Amino acid sequence: MTSTDPETTDVLVVGSGIAGCAAALAAAREGADVLVLTKATRPEDASTDWAQGGISTTRGDPEGFKEDILAASDDTAEEDAIDVLLAEADDAIEDVLLETLEIPFDETEDGDDFDYTREAGHSMRRILHVDAETGTHILRPFLASLDDHDRIEIRQDTAALELVTDEGRVHGVLSDEKPTGHPIYAGTTILATGGVGALYPRSTNPDDATGDGIAMAALAGADVRDLEYVQFHPTAYDGEDPFLLSEAIRGEGAVLRNGDGERFMPEYHPDADLAPRDVVSRAVAREREATGEVVLDVSPLEDGFAAEFPTIAETCRDRGIEGEQIPVAPCEHFLCGGIDVDEYGRTTLDRLYAVGECSRTGVHGANRLASTSLLEGLVWGLRAGEDAVGRESEVVDAPDLRNSDPALPERFAAEKFTRLRKTMDEYLGLERDPDRVSRAGAVLRRLKGEVDAYVRTRTSRELYELRHATVTALLITRAAAENTESAGCHRVSEDTGATAD
Ligand code: SIN
Repeated sequence: MTSTDPETTDVLVVGSGIAGCAAALAAAREGADVLVLTKATRPEDASTDWAQGGISTTRGDPEGFKEDILAASDDTAEEDAIDVLLAEADDAIEDVLLETLEIPFDETEDGDDFDYTREAGHSMRRILHVDAETGTHILRPFLASLDDHDRIEIRQDTAALELVTDEGRVHGVLSDEKPTGHPIYAGTTILATGGVGALYPRSTNPDDATGDGIAMAALAGADVRDLEYVQFHPTAYDGEDPFLLSEAIRGEGAVLRNGDGERFMPEYHPDADLAPRDVVSRAVAREREATGEVVLDVSPLEDGFAAEFPTIAETCRDRGIEGEQIPVAPCEHFLCGGIDVDEYGRTTLDRLYAVGECSRTGVHGANRLASTSLLEGLVWGLRAGEDAVGRESEVVDAPDLRNSDPALPERFAAEKFTRLRKTMDEYLGLERDPDRVSRAGAVLRRLKGEVDAYVRTRTSRELYELRHATVTALLITRAAAENTESAGCHRVSEDTGATAD
């Protein structure tokens, strides 16, 4: 290739979490040349790296696992998709995580077996983990092994701005490499861009989870689905810069108490503190409102909090959180819906795939069961990567982005993001009222108009992230407006009269 030749690759993966890594690995194993783009300055800065609890296995009981997934989802998850997940779960873990990457999952004291943990909604201990830092211990060796692979290039600090499409077929992306709008043509493009944490003021995701893949796919005409199901984790630290207090802590015996020191979960659900996540999140929100605060009481842990969860205990110490009662509040955590895909991660657009949190496979329905997201990313990543090979890249006319004035007015993006997050927080949170959802739509449409006016004359990553966030927020709002039935994470309630804007 000369410097003027267009850049091409067989398979282009956008995103470097577990789903993107699995897709890259599977495509390279099939002999494809793979380029992984990530906008993070360090590829490990993906949501996967922040995953605490673990990765579920079937532990010899796929039927029981299936029942738990269905129950957590309010019976809205799709059985066919769950069957695909469970048929391949244990082999994928064995092949990639144990044999290829040799992840040192925690074992029992005598070393005879894995030290399986349990989280809310699981009827048995079936979750593999490394302390409560499972994501870090999976992702870093995964990226290191891809880095060593001679068919895979990982290009960091590079954002995808738009998809390149021609007659309904996707041919790659425009990236923000200089000159901005640099086309990368690919036989197949796989989106693995993660979730939407940046649309909410409090989230357990990295700050750059701006819904890029969902917006790019939707703007190119791909179907999206179930976007109203935004999952809130019940136990994030209730303070500045919230961090996750894994459900595994409750799995090992911790309990929630309200501001009067009382346990309240037994009144909300027969599984009490281990009820499905959406149920616990709403209960925590109500009890905080009624009694001033909710704490996670870690005193029941048999071997002590610091011994059982050393990394989280250290974070607490570093943040000056003393004692065994940790203040918690719900926090945006995971998008259960996304770009609509089939059992191979194929979207409704030719040669475009989506895997991981930006996709909607049907496995999660209206509420995801704990420790199934790494698993879904791994299984669908492998399936998509394998299926994606064998298409030649084609160089087509790519849209010309406007580079006349790349700079944005100072604070433009920050101010718009603040308005967007306030709107999502007030109107698209744990409970949704139809009138208020429609008000959110009006606010977001105005915001989109303001952002689009800049997109017509400028190009910068910040502006495109804002555009993607605004488009994704509007899509979530539209999905919430269209679904008048409560299920899982989408709880339709009465108007509470508050206003945003
Ligand atoms: C957690 O550790 O509580 C989160 C696990 C998950 O989101 O599946």
